[in-house]
Amino acid sequence: MTDEKKPLIVVLSGLSGSGKGTQAKELIDKYGLGYVVIGDLLREEVASGSELGEKIHEIIHIKGELVPDSIAHKLLWKNISKLPEGKSFILDGYPRSEGQIEGFEKIVSDLGNIDYIFFNIDISDDMAIERLTARRVCEKCKSIFKGKDKKVCEKCGGKLIQRKDDTIEKIRKRLEWGHKDVGPVLDHYRKKGKLIDVDGERPKEEVTKQITEKLEKYL
Ligand code: AP5
Repeated sequence: MTDEKKPLIVVLSGLSGSGKGTQAKELIDKYGLGYVVIGDLLREEVASGSELGEKIHEIIHIKGELVPDSIAHKLLWKNISKLPEGKSFILDGYPRSEGQIEGFEKIVSDLGNIDYIFFNIDISDDMAIERLTARRVCEKCKSIFKGKDKKVCEKCGGKLIQRKDDTIEKIRKRLEWGHKDVGPVLDHYRKKGKLIDVDGERPKEEVTKQITEKLEKYL
C-alpha cells in the first residue's frame, strides 16, 4: 500500500515582523507552492479605493487593529477558491483570533481532501520593533528588504516604501493583539500536534532550513 500524501496548507504564523512574508517567498521559490497572504489582500482592497477598502484602511492603517473576522474570511475564501484544485499552498496571517479558528476549519472542510501544518516563527517584541522600523517594501513587486537607507528594489528597480503601519505606535498595537488574540490560536493547534515552533531570531537562511527540514515530511 502506498502512503499517498494529501495536498497541504502551510500556515505561517508569528508576531508582526517575525519573517512570515520573507519565508513565504523562499518556500514558494523552492517548492512552487500557491500562496494567499491576507495582509496583501487587505492592502490590495485599500488600493482599489472601494468602500470596503476605505473601511479596511481605517482599521489597519489608522487603528492598527485586526479587521472583523467576516471581512478576513470573505476576502480569503474568494482567493483560495481561485487556486488550482489539489495544489498545496501557503496561508500567511490566518487564522489570527479564536473566532477565525472556525473560519479556518471551514476552509479545510470545504476544500475536502487537504491536510495542514502551522509554523510559528517565534521572535521577541524587541526584535519585531527593530526589524519593522527598518523594513522597506517594493511598491511594484512587493519584495521585502531590511535597511532604512534602501531606496530602490534590487529585484525589479521599483521604489522602496515604508508600510503605513510600520510606525512605532501601530507596531506596538499589532504586538499587543499578536499576543492576546493570536496566542490562543497557536495554543489550540500546538495541543492538536499541528504546530511546529521555529526560532525566528536566527539568520533568514537558518530559519528557512528549520522550516524546510520539517516541511519535507509533509510535502
Ligand atoms: P500583515 O501584512 O500580515 O502584517 P503583520 O502580521 O504585521 O506581518 P508583517 O508583514 O508586518 O511581518 P512578517 O512576519 O511578514 O515579516 P517580514 O517577512 O516582512 O497584516 C497587516 C494588517 O492586516 C494587520 O496589522 C491587521 O490589521 C490586518 N490583518 C492581517 N491578518 C488578519 C487577520 N487574519 N484577521 C484580521 N485582520 C488581519 O520581515 C520583517 C522584516 O524583517 C523585513 O525587513 C525582513 O527583511 C526582516 N527579516 C525577516 N526575517 C529575518 C531574519 N531571519 N533575520 C533578519 N531580518 C529578517
